[in-house]
Amino acid sequence: MSRRILTVFGTRPEAIKLFPLVHAIEADRRLEGRVCVSAQHRGMLDQVLEIAGVEPARDLDLMRPDRSLGALTAALLTGLGGVMDGERPDWVVVQGDTATAMAGALAAYYRKIPVAHVEAGLRSGNIHHPWPEEVNRKVIGTLAALHCAPTETAAEALRRENIDPGTIHVTGNTVIDALRWVTGRIERQPGLAAGLSELERRFAGRRIIGVTSHRRENFGEGMERIAQAIQLLAGQPDLAIIFPVHLNPHVRSVMNERLAGFANVALIEPLDYPHFARLLDICHLMLTDSGGVQEEAPALGKPVLVMRETTERPEGVAAGTALLVGTDPERILSAARRLLEDEAAYAAMARAHNPFGDGKSAGRIAELLATA
Ligand code: UD1
Ligand code: UDP
Repeated sequence: MSRRILTVFGTRPEAIKLFPLVHAIEADRRLEGRVCVSAQHRGMLDQVLEIAGVEPARDLDLMRPDRSLGALTAALLTGLGGVMDGERPDWVVVQGDTATAMAGALAAYYRKIPVAHVEAGLRSGNIHHPWPEEVNRKVIGTLAALHCAPTETAAEALRRENIDPGTIHVTGNTVIDALRWVTGRIERQPGLAAGLSELERRFAGRRIIGVTSHRRENFGEGMERIAQAIQLLAGQPDLAIIFPVHLNPHVRSVMNERLAGFANVALIEPLDYPHFARLLDICHLMLTDSGGVQEEAPALGKPVLVMRETTERPEGVAAGTALLVGTDPERILSAARRLLEDEAAYAAMARAHNPFGDGKSAGRIAELLATA
């Protein structure tokens, strides 16, 4: 009898970090995989499902424009619970720290279904940064029966919380599996990531700064400050900024208002994963408040300036490939300038450094699901 695994996710980063596991489960005859998407995100989720060839068995289609955290969580808890009642899986797999992951873990716990947590043990130590993700991740940590920690640092954080060490496994982060998979696809089929060529031509001869931003704790003042920082950078004509803008209306309204009309700032729609990998490839440095980008950019040898005061991913900072710069425009500008003007400073950060995994994490997690 094969084990029935229900993999639950709803947003872009979860889809990116879980598609390698969905593939690994499909390839393992001891496992019978089913995928349920909450569709907490719609367009940005579908972009990943399409490129990765993942066809969910269940799709709750829950995204509503600008829904409150309470309404979202309530809908997720009942919706995902209903799916679990029908599917009756042996394991539920969740990833990371989103509302879907937290509600999925809680719904499984209410049904006494064991939960496997992928990317377990990340902690900033501050429940307001990232908000609400730090608490979502701790809730899942309390419920999970299997903790797949990406690094030894994350595993140690779980042990410090008195989680049974026998349930903690250092598997690496599946984001590296995803990145390798997509770069391999692009090598075989360059057309998959050719859609930036017009921008590449327009910005030829300038150094490109890639930007992403979406954190809830930055809404309002933080987003305004990030926009001001980009305005300051746009004042340097030898630079160009490519900014795929998150679909969250709190991000788009500020960026469209503050940054439209700058000749060397391209505000573009969210890129699909192959095109985002291409942006990581062509940029000089990344400016971001994203979790996943903090892991991907160092793996590709691109310095990353993190527009946050704390991070639950200290490994890049410790290695010197990522730097926390907050959201103060002057601080962001001076950190960026230093990298742009000081070759030695740039070279020190632009080292391919990959503490997050070896690209074989999904296989390890599938093995744990088959044998734990
Ligand atoms: C969510 C996660 C966050 C994660 C981020 C990744 C929570 C509470 N937040 O934040 O942890 O880092 O995703 O991107 O789980 N929207 C669209 N189309 C899309 C996606 C979003 O229109 O494809 C708009 C909708 O109006 C939606 C809003 O963005 O209501 C917010 O989406 P939501 O999932 O609630 O929060 P994010 O800020 O995206
Ligand atoms: N990403 C993408 N297209 C974009 C921006 C980001 O495919 O236009 C990918 C990126 O490579 C990373 C993930 O989305 O794997 C990060 O998602 P996001 O920043 O939305 O969420 P977080 O990682 O902060 O939870």
